[in-house]
Amino acid sequence: MTTREMQDEIIRLKKEKDICILVHAYISHDIVEVADYVGDSYGLSKQAAAAPQKNVLMCGVRFMAETCKILSPEKRVYLSHSEAGCPMAEQIDKELIEAYKEKYPGVPVVAYINTTAELKTVCDVCVTSASALKIVKNMDAEKILFIPDRNLGGWIKENCPEKQIDLMNGGCPTHAQMSIRDVERAKAAHPGAKLLVHPESRKEVVDQADYAGSTTGIMKYARESEAKEFIIGTENSIVSHLQMECPDKRFYELSKECVCRNMKLTTLADVYNMVKYGEAEEIIMDEETRLAAKKPIDKMLQLGG
Ligand code: 13P
Ligand code: SF4
Repeated sequence: MTTREMQDEIIRLKKEKDICILVHAYISHDIVEVADYVGDSYGLSKQAAAAPQKNVLMCGVRFMAETCKILSPEKRVYLSHSEAGCPMAEQIDKELIEAYKEKYPGVPVVAYINTTAELKTVCDVCVTSASALKIVKNMDAEKILFIPDRNLGGWIKENCPEKQIDLMNGGCPTHAQMSIRDVERAKAAHPGAKLLVHPESRKEVVDQADYAGSTTGIMKYARESEAKEFIIGTENSIVSHLQMECPDKRFYELSKECVCRNMKLTTLADVYNMVKYGEAEEIIMDEETRLAAKKPIDKMLQLGG
């Protein structure tokens, strides 16, 4: 079976079986081509609730499928590869947050959506990289705790100096691969190119950027910019998606190492096996956890607009 034949069969079967395929932008292009929706974490959360289909296949990592189940309990939600987790989502546990809350009662806990459903149950509001600044600025609190990504938290802190923001030690191992030496090398090789980076990257990398924002933000900037060359400082799938979409522009990886191992676990064959044979892990969540984890997500959707 060729890739094209497999894709055609997936498209036929997903319609026949009422399956919505949601795909994060870090997933490979052959899967993007069979998606009902492609986007960043914020877009995927909104789409999860809005999709009319009874079944959802989330091609991404576990916290994304959990978010989908939290928002749409009546749907059957499947994760594209059962080992696809996000290491950052598991870096902080519930007990640490409970201890912080005891020490600083009344200080809201803002959780990056890259957290487990269990951790969300003790948090007050979720954010994604696309909505973080707007939400933190809109919050009626002088002091907050932001978890788990120290780089994203530091970036929010810098852009929102009116708030006191506590941070914990967490971060994305994929974005941490990019260093200031990569920036120097890439800028020397492509002197006219704009540098676009994700705020999960190290501060010294973000400081050199022409634009910092979510995956969707980076793609929008590149699409709409008059510039012709771009160095992309986020997961390298974005480079190939952009190159396909804008053939008259040139896109370069900031670092060859910026590849999320977890996002790369899902293959087109996994998607095919799910729609053809139902072979994928279904997300099951107890109602108590779901309702408690839903509160900060609802708050995000309400404050994020
Ligand atoms: P966004 O999709 O919110 O840009 O986040 C990037 C990411 O690392 C998702 O895992
Ligand atoms: Fe998690 Fe980083 Fe991979 Fe995103 S890119 S899923 S934050 S490890």
